[in-house]
Amino acid sequence: MSRSTPPVQFDPLHRLWLLSTPNTAYALRLDAHDVPRHVYWGRPLTLAQAASVPEVRRPADSSFESPVGDGGELTTDGFGAQSLLLAFSDGTTQVDWRFLGHTVTDGELVVRLADRHYPLEADLHYRVHEDSDVIERWTTLRHNDPDGQDILMTRTDSASWTAPPRPSYRLSHTTGAWTTEFQLERLPLPIGETLLTSRRGVSSHQSHPWLMIDDGTADEEHGEVWSAALAWSGSWRISVDRNPAGRLTWTGGFGHDGLSWRLHPGETWQTPPFHGLFSAGGFGTASRAWHDHITRHVLPHPEELRPIVYNSWEATGWAVTEANQKGLAATAAALGAELFVMDDGWFGARDGDDAGLGDWTVNPTHFPDGLAPLIDEVQRLGMRFGLWVEPEMVNPDSDLYRAHPDWVLHQPHRTQTTMRNQLVLNFARPDVATWAHKWLDALVRDHAIDYLKWDMNRAFTEAGWPEAGPDASRLWIDHVRGVYTIIDRLREDHPHLRVQACAGGGGRADLGMLTRTDEVWISDNTDAADRITIQHGYSQVYPARTMAAWVTDSPNFLTRRALPLRFRFHVAMAGVLGIGGNLLEWTPADLAEATTLITHYKTIRPTIQHGTQHRLTTQAGHTAVQYTSPDSSQIVVIAWRQPVRTGHPAFPIRLHSLDPNALYRDEDTGTIHHGTILLNHGIAPDLPADYTSTLIQLQRIP
Ligand code: GLA
Repeated sequence: MSRSTPPVQFDPLHRLWLLSTPNTAYALRLDAHDVPRHVYWGRPLTLAQAASVPEVRRPADSSFESPVGDGGELTTDGFGAQSLLLAFSDGTTQVDWRFLGHTVTDGELVVRLADRHYPLEADLHYRVHEDSDVIERWTTLRHNDPDGQDILMTRTDSASWTAPPRPSYRLSHTTGAWTTEFQLERLPLPIGETLLTSRRGVSSHQSHPWLMIDDGTADEEHGEVWSAALAWSGSWRISVDRNPAGRLTWTGGFGHDGLSWRLHPGETWQTPPFHGLFSAGGFGTASRAWHDHITRHVLPHPEELRPIVYNSWEATGWAVTEANQKGLAATAAALGAELFVMDDGWFGARDGDDAGLGDWTVNPTHFPDGLAPLIDEVQRLGMRFGLWVEPEMVNPDSDLYRAHPDWVLHQPHRTQTTMRNQLVLNFARPDVATWAHKWLDALVRDHAIDYLKWDMNRAFTEAGWPEAGPDASRLWIDHVRGVYTIIDRLREDHPHLRVQACAGGGGRADLGMLTRTDEVWISDNTDAADRITIQHGYSQVYPARTMAAWVTDSPNFLTRRALPLRFRFHVAMAGVLGIGGNLLEWTPADLAEATTLITHYKTIRPTIQHGTQHRLTTQAGHTAVQYTSPDSSQIVVIAWRQPVRTGHPAFPIRLHSLDPNALYRDEDTGTIHHGTILLNHGIAPDLPADYTSTLIQLQRIP
């Protein structure tokens, strides 16, 4: 797109809209029945070119095929996965759109539709930015008859996306479980419907709400990739529909299958954004475009370098006391930590995971003089202070639960399953949300809290809301909206407050949380060897500046694997470095090495957190990541070796995005490298043994 190309153009003759981003184009049109249908998504086009895109051939005409076109922008007809599932009061389920008009304001197109008979309107929103290839889409539904009947809703997706016809497709996404989040899957996509979903009330450890599609030939640096990511932190559903004629459409939005609620007369219902991105430069380019978009348009404070956090969890568990936290704080500060976070155990009767959740007053046994002496000490040591909270949860053994047993998600005559000895508070209830906001606001204000680790440690079960009757399913949506509103209000009222998103690690890592938090605790697994794979998966969409990573003890508390301190640091230094070990037991040699590595990290932090990232292709057992500073003058390469067969030395690693004619100096060895050699031949990493690592820092010679 040239600078002068308007972001949104309309061709009235063909009733076609063309959206243009710096490197891509997206076109849709109204069909003869006023239904918006997909036309094109790929490299830039002019309006005239977009109008000439031929229709995609459909399966042979027969009475068993759809009588309407495919590729709906919000699929409400045909036989594919539907974006809207609803029933009007007389039982009618079919929507019949009439085009009302469109508006274009500052890069945002709204296509306005209304049902021809029933009181339902839909606005299809598309927003493009001049500095991003991501197209933001969402839908607003409106019940436009204040005196009408309720409309029963069972599915209200944000958008449908369609890829161009290709002989085959491949699906990339991440799967996992607690402690093994973000495992990248890249598999051929079968003909039929493939469902990606979470039914757990959080976006989940098991499946993350994004996908990438290619034709099977893309790699890290080449090939066309279509991707989409949902900005939602609760249950979700993306249904990917590939038909035998080569058409691929996916529809996605919040909520999972089986939910239903009523849209009331006069009510407006807004879906979360479902962002889409086309990239012609392979998975690496797609990831960098997502990182860039999240930086420019999603994160609250992208410009800030994230501080080096010390977190107490693996060191002291629930047994936090003023004395042990002060001891950890002193050592953490000496190492160079900038923010001290006291994790679980500081409140209520919280000596383990079986009591106290919900009682957010300082535990008088652990902190007889309150938190002030610790906070004063942390500040005296030059660090900011943060606290762990888990506002959405309650232990049955708590004063809160004893006072308000009706505040939890529950269904009459059904067992209330506890997990981690806790139940979920229903944040869809205004009284519960008000209570939570009140104590959080007071906590942050009274203790001058700089940072909250907002945790959420169990999935929803028996998720009911008896008082809501037939609208009980709304809790799946409104609980999340409640969380969003509280975090947004806290941030607005306490502008210095920073927030880490956590849900037992990476159970709620998504664009919805990233819109209102500063970083994500991506896994409770801090074993550096496992973490390499987890970080690789996280980086597919989310940027390093949001990826919190701690160095913890060896052997690891979870895996019992022993790893060198340097290796553990080098893995955590690939994101937002933090420390989470029991520093009181580290040897003087460990502390000295850690101090050196933290000091080093601070010098490369702007490049890691604010630069661009390339996942470098290496061979099995060797992994490397490159970060290039925004001005391209500093290059950081971190490489790790995991167990490999003896006799197979590491290949040279070929770098990316360098000036072939420039010279680059290795800041440690002084060696001068030619850009063209680094690009075309590569640099040999020094990885003499399993679990060794190296950090190469190159400076462009002006
Ligand atoms: C979750 C978090 C951990 C820690 C514990 C505390 O598991 O992911 O980092 O905060 O809760 O109970």
